[in-house]
Parts: sequence; C-alpha cells; structure tokens
Amino acid sequence: MQKIIFATGNEGKMREIRQILGDMPLEILSLKEAGLDPEIHEDASSFAGNALIKARTVHALPEGSQAIVLADDSGLEVDWLNGEPGIYSARYLGESVPYSIKNQSILDRLQGVTGEARSARFRCAVAAVFPDGQEAVSEGTIEGQIAGEILGDGGFGYDPIFWLPGEGLTTAQLPAEKKNAISHRGKALRGIRPVIEQWLAGRAV
Ligand code: IMP
Repeated sequence: MQKIIFATGNEGKMREIRQILGDMPLEILSLKEAGLDPEIHEDASSFAGNALIKARTVHALPEGSQAIVLADDSGLEVDWLNGEPGIYSARYLGESVPYSIKNQSILDRLQGVTGEARSARFRCAVAAVFPDGQEAVSEGTIEGQIAGEILGDGGFGYDPIFWLPGEGLTTAQLPAEKKNAISHRGKALRGIRPVIEQWLAGRAV
C-alpha cells in the first residue's frame, strides 16, 4: 500500500488527517511512526512556503522519497495587529511561553477595540510532495474575531481567544469534531485529498 507521511509530531493533527484521508488506500504515518526526526528550518515568508519546506525536507530523506509526504503550516492573523502573529504564531513572545500568556497579550493589545475591528482568521497551508517530485499546496481559512476574554479549555494554542460570532463560542468551546469540520486545517486537508486521489489514479494507469 502507498505510504503517506504527515510531517508533524502533533497527535491532534494526526487524528484529523486520519479522519479526512482514512478511507483511502494509504498507510498513514506520523514522523515518529516513520522513524524520522529531521531538523526543519521553516524560514519562508508564507504558510505555503513553510509547509513546502517541511514536506521537501522529509521527501529528501531516503525513508521519505518513496512516500507521499504531507506537511502543514498554520497560524492566527489579527487584522488590528496587521496580521500578527501570522507565520510567527508558534514563536510569538517565545516558543516556550505558555498560551495563557500569549493569548492575554493579544487581548491586551486589542483593549478598546470593538466589534468587527477585532476580525481575525486562522490560516493553514497543506503541502504535498509525491514520490515523482510533483508538488501541490492547498490552503484553508476560518474567519472569526478576537474574543473579549479567554474562554473554553478545548483545542490548543489560540483557540480560547478565537471567537466565532455565528456560533457564539470560541473554537476552544467547540467539540473537536465540529472544529475539524469547519477549521482552516480541515479545509486545507480536504482540498489536498482530490490531488492525492488523482496522483494515485495516474500511477495506477
Ligand atoms: P504549526 O502549524 O504547527 O507551525 O503551528 C502554528 C501555530 O499556530 C500553533 O502553534 C498555534 O499557536 C497556532 N494555531 C494554528 N492552528 C491553530 C488552531 O486550530 N487553534 C489554535 N491555534 C492554532
């Protein structure tokens, strides 16, 4: 069966990809399951660029060259902060600083800002590199606002401050299945699925 390696160490992301691609004739492996721990330098200036760097790095390894390699890069863009933290979302205020502090910092910087001026979005790019070197990128976004306070304890990262006005909840207050159904990552992964199907079909001819 064709192997697919998702270049992440994040178990939540692995669950999501298994939900979305699990019915395809693919053996889906995390980096750890593939026995890989590469050093990856994400120094591009876009989500798509960084996702491609991750996928190409794994594809360049002998163990990755015969697999379909997928990688994602994602983050939060706050319009009032000119798109910050953006591609620096994981590194905002420092990689090891807890999200309780990162989230409070964003709330503090938006003090006095009201309504639609608090608009924000999560953005995700998923890159694929195929064994023959073919590459593809799929992007997904989810629009929302920065909440007035930290709310909910589900999800991860910036979820407790990402408010969905239509739901009246933050993404940290949504059940995981519901979040996957509407999230930036879910959309990007569902967008890459037909590209994988097409590649598999072409190879079968
Ligand atoms: P990466 O894509 O694993 O490099 O992570 C980017 C960072 O963006 C994460 O560490 C989070 O801070 C943030 N982020 C991306 N997606 C989400 C999400 O669905 N909820 C909350 N934070 C997110």
